[in-house]
Amino acid sequence: MEPIVLAGAERPGTGKKVCVVGASGKLGRYLVRHALDRGYEVVGVCRERSVGKLAEFEGRITVIPGATNDSAVIARAVRGCDAVLTVLVPWGVNNYASGTAQAVLDHARPGARLVFSCGWHITRDGKDVYSRKFKLYAAVFGRLAKLARVVDVDDQVEACRRVFASDTSWTVVRGSDLEEGDSQGLPVWSRHVGDPVLASNLTRRVDYARFMVEAVENDALIHEAPAIVGRLTPSALAHAGDPA
Ligand SMILES: NC(=O)c1ccc[n+]([C@@H]2O[C@H](COP(=O)([O-])OP(=O)(O)OC[C@H]3O[C@@H](n4cnc5c(N)ncnc54)[C@H](OP(=O)(O)O)[C@@H]3O)[C@@H](O)[C@H]2O)c1
Repeated sequence: MEPIVLAGAERPGTGKKVCVVGASGKLGRYLVRHALDRGYEVVGVCRERSVGKLAEFEGRITVIPGATNDSAVIARAVRGCDAVLTVLVPWGVNNYASGTAQAVLDHARPGARLVFSCGWHITRDGKDVYSRKFKLYAAVFGRLAKLARVVDVDDQVEACRRVFASDTSWTVVRGSDLEEGDSQGLPVWSRHVGDPVLASNLTRRVDYARFMVEAVENDALIHEAPAIVGRLTPSALAHAGDPA
């Protein structure tokens, strides 16, 4: 399908152009809002059936309808983009997440900032420490969802493995449990789940998106997999700034 070019997509601002892959979901729409607020030109990719969910942005973004793991769709969407923000979701059992990540890795321009979303269950270096409850939930949910052929968490793991192994300027933002609500500000982060600062395990979705968009211009986050938590949660208030 042809791209839907909405008048007014060329905005003044910082001159950066960013692509949001998975723009129509809850996190994706927050990403679009933050990116527009920062003055970026925004291209969004979403399934054809979900284009209507982006109606609030009409006149302000360009929408490329299509599956996010379709290499040709992603190639067109990321052309000329300085950054790509990807909502990595493990839907179905057809390698949707790894196909999406691979398409972004293959087609984003060299040097582009690539920021991906996932959950705490993804580990980069194996040094994360998970509670028994977290491990049990992940194991039971993962197995049941795969059996039902709804979600394949292992494929999100594979997607992140490919990102970590790539020579791109990536950041993988690992989200805690999420909730809706007004912004509490930029989340606090740690390299490892199990760090006391993360114990509250809750972040506002709006702030998760803000962290991802701010990562675009934060080179200190290149090749990091920050695990985040809301900055006003009890654990963040108690431990933010601890040397650990
Ligand atoms: N939910 C949580 O508590 C939680 C916790 C930690 C981390 N995260 C991470 O946060 C990110 C966003 O997750 P979210 O739960 O908040 O969801 P979300 O933002 O609502 O996004 C869901 C995405 O999945 C797409 N989708 C839904 N059904 C699909 C299908 N059958 N085939 C292909 N795509 C489909 C949606 O596209 P359409 O608009 O086309 O439906 C949308 O882009 C993910 O990376 C997730 O790992 C979530």
